[in-house]
Amino acid sequence: MTIASRESLAADLLAWYDRHARRLPWRARPGETPDPYRVWLSEIMLQQTTVAAVQPYFQDFLARWPRIQDLAAAELDSVLTAWAGLGYYARARNLHRCAKVVTEAHHGRFPEDESALRALPGIGPYTAAAIAAIAFDRKATPVDGNIERVTARLFAVETPLPQAKAELRRLAETLTPDRRAGDFAQAEMDLGATVCLPRRPRCLACPLESACAARAAGQQDELPRRSPKAARPTRRAVAFWTLAPSGKVLLRRRAETGLLGGMMEVPSTEWRAGDWAEAEALVQAPLAADWQTLPGLVRHTFTHFHFEIAVWAGRTASEDPVDDGLWCPLDRLGEQALPSVMRKIVKHALRGGA
Ligand code: ADE
Repeated sequence: MTIASRESLAADLLAWYDRHARRLPWRARPGETPDPYRVWLSEIMLQQTTVAAVQPYFQDFLARWPRIQDLAAAELDSVLTAWAGLGYYARARNLHRCAKVVTEAHHGRFPEDESALRALPGIGPYTAAAIAAIAFDRKATPVDGNIERVTARLFAVETPLPQAKAELRRLAETLTPDRRAGDFAQAEMDLGATVCLPRRPRCLACPLESACAARAAGQQDELPRRSPKAARPTRRAVAFWTLAPSGKVLLRRRAETGLLGGMMEVPSTEWRAGDWAEAEALVQAPLAADWQTLPGLVRHTFTHFHFEIAVWAGRTASEDPVDDGLWCPLDRLGEQALPSVMRKIVKHALRGGA
């Protein structure tokens, strides 16, 4: 592509964006100055989650913590609780740490350039580029999945993902205009989400149709190619739904590091590939109880494995303290920082299984 054709491509896409941009709660309206706090918060939430899933969380966070100083002053636990369901809890911890650093070391203002942004907790290359471009109109190129797909098609890149990542980044950078880099990136994201769809792209509605090499070659349905994924293994556990005579249920805080670090859980055996024989699971129960196996299994998929959980329900004789444990009234489970998989287990147990 020549420089002139890159420039006209950027102009065409920006003109399309001016007419078709999705209205999203973190976006500045035309003429409005973007709020870096909103941009940062939305970008952290949007990593590997959909725009639809993020919107209620985004609104809730802003209502609770309207300014970054408010978020910095919040208890970590209330942040984790508000985050519960979005997944990747390390992100919520880093979000909180980042709010503190920006508040304490940067007077509550995000730095404007990519490298200073990258020095902040939880801000990697993608997020730094997104904030620099969207919040500060710096020339930067955030590359997410949508932008990879749009770029792979525009240039008819045959290399499969993920090997093609570096090549796609390089090509995407060649398109970024000197001005409105943030709008340009968001235009590509919107194009990817509404027109240049993973399957059956709507080429007739695309402002870049005439510039698209995949379209010219009739390859728009085939690109980007992907290397076959490694199969996800399955891990298994038994979860113990433990009720005290008072009717409270036993929850436990997970270790700070590792998966779902610091979140609350329904206590369980370790998670492993092999099935659990009854006697083996029993020795990992948090307390003695009259255990009954509930019918059915809870299933959940994490990024790197499937998880299958059998649930045992039991009543204990007394409300004994347990390390890192908490006896929670059933009607206050909603206040706990329970990740999605644990909410599934709670639902299953409350239904009596199956
Ligand atoms: N996905 C990630 N960031 C986004 C944004 N700013 N607009 C739309 N989709 C996004």
